[in-house]
Amino acid sequence: MRHFDEGGRFVEVGTYLGRSLCSLGEVVRDGGKRFSVIGIDTCRGSGAEGPQQKDFHGGAVAAGGGTFAGTLHRNIIECGLADTISLIVSDSVTAASLFADRSIDWVHLDASHDRESLTRDITSWLPKVRHGGWLSGDDYNAEKWPEVVSTVKELLPEARKWSSKQWRLVVEDPENLASAAPAPLTS
Ligand SMILES: C[S@@+](CC[C@H](N)C(=O)[O-])C[C@H]1O[C@@H](n2cnc3c(N)ncnc32)[C@H](O)[C@@H]1O
Repeated sequence: MRHFDEGGRFVEVGTYLGRSLCSLGEVVRDGGKRFSVIGIDTCRGSGAEGPQQKDFHGGAVAAGGGTFAGTLHRNIIECGLADTISLIVSDSVTAASLFADRSIDWVHLDASHDRESLTRDITSWLPKVRHGGWLSGDDYNAEKWPEVVSTVKELLPEARKWSSKQWRLVVEDPENLASAAPAPLTS
């Protein structure tokens, strides 16, 4: 909230039932600056994943007859955040194509945690973050989610561990980086 200018746009990819999304929504609603908060999820779960191949969302998907979209939306309404948070029920890559390049201040990735999916998410969303904005993600934990750590290290070597178990890249303007570099030596 302190870092971003009013009118900015925050996106969380992978909301599940809205715990982290509503937490962000509360900070925005009560923070006195106007921001858009957008949550994106297929609402069909990630399926079996991680070293233990556990299906974390299957129960909620089954309970909703194949989607937890109703529960997610109800949670947002019950938290008093219906006017703060917008939802897009969609696959991450399709949703990314709806946004113009450099039009988002902060994208937080918390969808599927396997290498292939995270690679797709990083590749699709990185161009959408404005210069000076943030691309971040959850579950930066080598024991529980080794593919998150290895994929981030490989694709985004400038990203850093952030907060308790997250990673974050501050997206720099390549021209600023170039001008900050020492001038090439001439003879
Ligand atoms: C780890 S959970 C999100 C947890 C949530 N951020 C929280 O803290 O409560 C991952 C979510 O990503 C969603 N998901 C998985 N693959 C996706 C994809 N390709 N596009 C959009 N959402 C996806 C799943 O449906 C699931 O709800």
